[in-house]
Amino acid sequence: MAELFDGYRSNYRDVVQSSIDFSGLPHSFFMRAKADLLRELIADRLGQDKPAMLDVGCGVGSLHPLLRGMVGRLSGIDVSADSIAQARADNRDVDYRAFDGRRFPFADAGFDLVTAICVLHHVAPEEWTQFIHEMRRVTRPGGLVCVIEHNPLNPLTRLAVARCEFDRDAALLGAGKVRKLLATGGLRKIGARHFLLLPWETSPARRIERGLGDLPLGAQYAAYGTA
Ligand SMILES: C[S@@+](CC[C@H](N)C(=O)[O-])C[C@H]1O[C@@H](n2cnc3c(N)ncnc32)[C@H](O)[C@@H]1O
Repeated sequence: MAELFDGYRSNYRDVVQSSIDFSGLPHSFFMRAKADLLRELIADRLGQDKPAMLDVGCGVGSLHPLLRGMVGRLSGIDVSADSIAQARADNRDVDYRAFDGRRFPFADAGFDLVTAICVLHHVAPEEWTQFIHEMRRVTRPGGLVCVIEHNPLNPLTRLAVARCEFDRDAALLGAGKVRKLLATGGLRKIGARHFLLLPWETSPARRIERGLGDLPLGAQYAAYGTA
């Protein structure tokens, strides 16, 4: 079946950029903020050097060059075979697989860190529970499941989503909902942090963002739990 994101294999970053042009910030700024947040989560919650990571719904793999040196074995899966083909062409060192969106093509407990970044809002709400169940299944006991999503309470996020042509089907969900899904999925020590509040990458700006992370202010949030 042709997937929505097959049509964005060659221009995914340009389409995202045109939806956020009003912010004056490049797409790369948002990707670096996510990579920095994942680096902190790995240190705080895994305390492990170079974890094996699975990125579910990885698309064209835009984040993956930023993860080099931070993670060990890296795998990416997506329902869009064309996006996976592009990701593979751009990142030869990553293991990519297309799949049907249901059972992840991996054995149980094979990863230290499993992420889904801006994916859940493209999954039908009735499939969210099963999706989180699969994230947990492929995470080793003690490993981390992390969902990064748009913050529906941020008006600029809503504007960006309204301007993005591939977000027409988006079912936005807040951090509270993802926390509940993680709890229902059996994850423990659940936390959430909002980020992408300030338009700077300096250390003071990042410190302020971290201090305000409990408040639903930033453009996106990460919700996570231990398997
Ligand atoms: C907005 S893109 C995000 C891509 C990437 N995570 C990023 O942040 O650049 C959403 C991706 O989720 C994928 N997707 C949608 N439903 C999915 C599912 N059930 N399982 C895995 N991937 C899915 C889409 O094909 C698309 O590549």
